[in-house]
Amino acid sequence: MPLAPDPPPPLLRLDDPALDLPAALDDLHPEHFQRGLVPVELEKGVSAWLMITLYCLQHVLKDERYYARDPRAWRDLGNGTIPDTSPLHALYPPRRNALSVDGAEHTRLRAALTGALEEVALHHVTHEVSQTADVIIDWFCTRGEADVVSEYASVLPLLVLCRLFGMDQHAGLRVGMAMQRLWDGQADAAHAHHQLQDLLLGHAAHRRTQPGRDITTGMITRGLDDEEIRDQLALIMAAAHDPIAHAITNTLADLLQTSRLHMVGSTWLISETLNHGIWHHPPLETLVGRFPTVDGLELGGYRLARGDCLVMGFGAAQRHQLRTAPPSPSNRAYPVFGMGPHGCPRLGRDIALATAQTGVERLQQRLPDLRLRENDTPRRASTVIAGRRALPVTFTPARPLTPPETHQEDPWTPSPAPQRASASHSTTPPPTRSAFERLARWLRLI
Ligand code: HEM
Repeated sequence: MPLAPDPPPPLLRLDDPALDLPAALDDLHPEHFQRGLVPVELEKGVSAWLMITLYCLQHVLKDERYYARDPRAWRDLGNGTIPDTSPLHALYPPRRNALSVDGAEHTRLRAALTGALEEVALHHVTHEVSQTADVIIDWFCTRGEADVVSEYASVLPLLVLCRLFGMDQHAGLRVGMAMQRLWDGQADAAHAHHQLQDLLLGHAAHRRTQPGRDITTGMITRGLDDEEIRDQLALIMAAAHDPIAHAITNTLADLLQTSRLHMVGSTWLISETLNHGIWHHPPLETLVGRFPTVDGLELGGYRLARGDCLVMGFGAAQRHQLRTAPPSPSNRAYPVFGMGPHGCPRLGRDIALATAQTGVERLQQRLPDLRLRENDTPRRASTVIAGRRALPVTFTPARPLTPPETHQEDPWTPSPAPQRASASHSTTPPPTRSAFERLARWLRLI
């Protein structure tokens, strides 16, 4: 490939709310796919390269010598090109977690983290998902209608992860409430961030005195201090929550739209639909980034400069692979889990798939006549996360397995819960309260 004249003009603005990235990439000239990367802007004046083929992703992600993961290597972030007011600073601050450092520090943190994930057996994950799913479904099953995105798929993965961290239900819901305020970017987002940090730090300290069979204890035994554990737990939640939530929603939407949810042998069907969905609609469309550590590297016929920003275009790369070399139906080697030294740990991937699959299965078992309320389910306007904004469903109202007043005797809820005003099962909750808060109130934990 001849070297292109540089610098090339950006082809796409990734922060454009009107941009339909998959459609825009499909319309690109085939030459861009031969090159494997396209010049883009993350926001006005902030250039980056979007990697759009598997070959390009593999080349870069497997080469930690010439491509750093640590955002401190991102030239424009450090030299004032990206203004202090840009949200990019809040999204990519220097962090001390495995995904944000390189070299020996990365090796040490990743070893502790992956070792700690080994503490969690997969059958245990499935059990936790079923139990957690039952509590959430109990909360809305008498109503006969729900929004799968906000009331189920966005709640389940975070509560399951908190269980795997060794937290009780109350602590998990408090983490969820703080996370929701952060995601919503409400006025008190900074306060929510500190609260979340305190909750995770407090949990690490608690597990140090009362160890268990969980991810937190696993990191303690592998020598991490409480602050390091706090940062790795926050990483897992940030890396895992949204993609699992959208894998659940996409799978359910696919099954409901094709009226296949009620077919016999649904465990196999759900697993295949999940697999198909992750290939065709990967829950992560893009992710920042990699940063060349030297000047003058050549990639796809472009000359890169040290500190340039490379964005992983998982959605584009997977769609390109489906067009050019379709994987066999049993292939689970999805590029969307990354690759190379920073790739998603095998157990992270397994936990994600088990959570998504069991989450869909349990909902189908508890509410077997689930139907879509609207055929058109709006997609989320994001060039990062590929998912739906809402998935309204209806179903025949069902009895809760465990009414809220008996939850306090459940071993799943070790901390005694203060009694407060009760919430009705059937009223529409006030929109300002997050699902985590409404669930906590229904369980009478706050
Ligand atoms: C559908 C769900 C998930 C997706 C799509 C996903 C995707 C990814 C990707 C693409 C990376 C690599 C990023 C990069 O190279 O810059 C990554 C890293 C990571 N993931 Fe996942 N992940 C998921 C679920 C999980 C879960 C459930 C866990 C843990 C329980 C987890 C733990 C991690 C960790 C610790 C890293 C950082 C590894 C390192 O830097 O060495 N992920 N994930």
